Amino acid sequence: MRILVIGSGGREHALLKGLAGHELTVAPGNAGMASLAEVRSVDVASPESVVELAKDVDAELVVIGPEVPLVAGAVDALQAAGIPAFGPTKAAAQLEGSKAFAKDVMAAAGVATARAQRVERIEEIDDALEAFGPHYVVKDDGLAGGKGVVVTLDAAEARAHAREVIEAGNPVLFESFLEGPEVSLFCLVDGETVVPLLPAQDHKRAYDNDEGPNTGGMGAYTPLPWLPEGGVDRIVDEIARPVAREMVARGIPYQGLLYVGAAWGPEGPSVVEFNARFGDPETQPVLSLLRTPLVDVLYAVATGSLDTLPPLEWEDGYAATVVLAAKDYPEHPKTGDVIAGADLDNPDVVLHAGTATKDGEYVSAGGRVLNVLGKGATLQDAVDAAYQAIKQISLEGSFYRKDIGRRAIEGEIRI
Ligand code: GLY
Repeated sequence: MRILVIGSGGREHALLKGLAGHELTVAPGNAGMASLAEVRSVDVASPESVVELAKDVDAELVVIGPEVPLVAGAVDALQAAGIPAFGPTKAAAQLEGSKAFAKDVMAAAGVATARAQRVERIEEIDDALEAFGPHYVVKDDGLAGGKGVVVTLDAAEARAHAREVIEAGNPVLFESFLEGPEVSLFCLVDGETVVPLLPAQDHKRAYDNDEGPNTGGMGAYTPLPWLPEGGVDRIVDEIARPVAREMVARGIPYQGLLYVGAAWGPEGPSVVEFNARFGDPETQPVLSLLRTPLVDVLYAVATGSLDTLPPLEWEDGYAATVVLAAKDYPEHPKTGDVIAGADLDNPDVVLHAGTATKDGEYVSAGGRVLNVLGKGATLQDAVDAAYQAIKQISLEGSFYRKDIGRRAIEGEIRI
């Protein structure tokens, strides 16, 4: 099948790896993807540009990785051109694009989530801090690629972030803090049909022990040894399916990947956020354990036949990914430095995110540079394999977290 993947990060490299064997094009892509796909350019924010490229490569399926093209309406434009596309329409992608819309859908569907207040004026910030402290959750209400969130006990830091977001022209969302470990559960949704993938956990802070600024994600592992039995079913039954039904009832059925970010508190799962796409970096380990051909999965959703897809098959064991980040990520990532080492061209081990080539060598071109994968019979084995591989890679000034999966391995995560 001729397949066009839109995006340029580790998530899209993982999607391409899962689709290997088909005739693949990726846009805008990155340097590490060239062995799997033809790399083309595209304006991801322009549905017309995506359709033009899809027609040019005669795509039979277009898979949209990031949220920007979804929220811009790429899937609507592809559908209008008669090209099957994996991802929700512009209206349905509001589950990620508008936190107010997501809250409204959750309220109507009876889904547990944090209390929230939208603030648009700097003068309202102090009242909101008063109402929501002392554990502050302050979110950029625009699309921020997972990076616009500050969770802090420090009122001055919360105030400064809220101010910065409003001054940049976006509203701010204050939320009550949800207790409990976080789960990322990716659900394939096609109308009222919901099929969960394996549950995963991201590590959002830049440094070990969950210290430092929030990032797009510094590492992830799957599945979750600490999740109670039936935990995935609870997230599907209490969150994903009611939301899917509510979207159908509103006349905007959801077709694509619904990323449920939930905190597992004393009462069970409660929604932290929805995303309208695969998560990054959780996709990298999750898809590495999928045995069912990825093309069957994505095509079934894109063509409205998820209900006929046989149950998904998974490898036993665990997978983990560790992100190699550039110096000074996330604030001012340094780019243009040479990346050297083993397995840079082996997508079973290294998935590229922010890379380019210069004079025949890989160089850093973004904040999250590489995702290094490990698999094993136990979570410890999977994590060890990822760390063994990342140690073979050098990039001046780069860093990575040394504690991906550690709390789960040591039994420190309790419900
Ligand atoms: N892993 C966080 C995200 O994809 O938004």
